[in-house]
Amino acid sequence: ETADGGEIPDTIVVGTNAEFPPFEYVNDDGDVDGFDMAVMKEVGKKIGSDVEIKNMEFKSLIGSMESGNLDVIAAGMTVTKERERQVDFTDSYYTAKQYVIQKEGGSIKSADDLEGLTIAVQEGTTGDLLATDEIKDSNVKRFKKGVDAVMDLKKGGSDVVIIDANPAQEFVKANKGLELVKDLFDDESYAFAVQKGNTKLKDAINDALKEMKDDGTFDKLVKEYIGQ
Ligand code: ARG
Repeated sequence: ETADGGEIPDTIVVGTNAEFPPFEYVNDDGDVDGFDMAVMKEVGKKIGSDVEIKNMEFKSLIGSMESGNLDVIAAGMTVTKERERQVDFTDSYYTAKQYVIQKEGGSIKSADDLEGLTIAVQEGTTGDLLATDEIKDSNVKRFKKGVDAVMDLKKGGSDVVIIDANPAQEFVKANKGLELVKDLFDDESYAFAVQKGNTKLKDAINDALKEMKDDGTFDKLVKEYIGQ
């Protein structure tokens, strides 16, 4: 917990989990790339700070921030009540939702059809929470990487994957024999997280985001990385 409104570091340490295309992934050069990274680099420029990226497991991000090792989490992170007790969120920058991935011709049409199924998820995500808390009698298989959940579905280890819409689309595009079931679940809002009480950094990020929206940089990055 930061007293006195926090501070804006010369180097902003940004935590992510680069297993979540198009928001973050490791590119062909071996660098962590993606929409969130591009936005944070632009934010850094506007604030006048360097940006250093730390790639780690998704479920470790909040703990790492709470122990003071991260200034920002940029990880397609959904704002939830529970997380709001642990970190502060910036303004939301993207609206998403959970999609279901099933094998082509699968039988899932509604959320009720998921009852009792074996559901593969990325550990610690809102897809995990949904599968665990909202689906009756689910058997939840948790993977460190979303792509490994998809591989498990492909080889018949699970019935479906529940994961955010954009990576779901990318994973289905990259793998034959899979299809999406959309629109079963509610919208979620992505935001960047800062340490609890670091109002200065939160406000600076919000100002930079607003500037980027006004000057067209934000939309340019949406087009480049997300393609809408
Ligand atoms: N939006 C989901 C959540 O907040 C999944 C985010 C996963 N992000 C990642 N970089 N792996 O729980």
